[in-house]
Amino acid sequence: MSGASARDDGPHDGPHDGTAPATLFLLVGLPGAGKTTLARRLAAAHGALRLTPDEWHLPLFGSSLRAEGGRDVLEGRMITLALQALRLGTSVVLDFGLWSRDERSALRRLAEGAGARCRVVYLPVALDVQLARIAHRRATAPGETFPMAEADVVSWRERFEEPGAGELAGEEVPDPPRGWPTWAAWALDRWPALEVGEG
Ligand SMILES: Nc1ncnc2c1ncn2[C@@H]1O[C@H](COP(=O)(O)OP(=O)(O)O)[C@@H](O)[C@H]1O
Ligand SMILES: [Mg+2]
Repeated sequence: MSGASARDDGPHDGPHDGTAPATLFLLVGLPGAGKTTLARRLAAAHGALRLTPDEWHLPLFGSSLRAEGGRDVLEGRMITLALQALRLGTSVVLDFGLWSRDERSALRRLAEGAGARCRVVYLPVALDVQLARIAHRRATAPGETFPMAEADVVSWRERFEEPGAGELAGEEVPDPPRGWPTWAAWALDRWPALEVGEG
């Protein structure tokens, strides 16, 4: 049989036969930016696995935002799963928000280690648009989201670290923060239950 396969008729990057590197899409943005909406589109367009922790967080932990560390464990297991999929040649959309540059750098490096490409996809959103979208979602899909106070939304905007041009262009990952030998070591501390090895 030639290299063509039934998968070639879809809008995918390429066949999932190990010949084309998979892509890790990192969705970056605040609540209401439109991440999950875009994540669904990217997953369909690239034949990618979409990992949206909020869809698991709510049934597991309810609307408690940090859920006493459970959220970090959940994300750690999702990243582990993402790395497995990438090694198998399947692209992944990580619908995490990723407010911190260090988180993004660590994930970019882990993707490299899994032999995958990585794309940082940033969705900026103005405060008024953000508040309107959060209210719209609360009204139309209350089961998909957390209650959010306007004061919290405003303070989150200050904590959010906008991706820089280098991250968006896929430039080289910077060195890990002082005291960390590798980004993998940093990631294992940030996300309990993460496994970065083969398998
Ligand atoms: N580009 C867009 N234009 C208008 N509304 C949007 C857009 N993207 C998302 N929305 C709506 O805004 C709300 C929040 O979108 P969502 O994708 O859930 O954001 P996030 O996952 O970043 O919190 C939803 O009600 C969604 O339908
Ligand atoms: Mg979302």
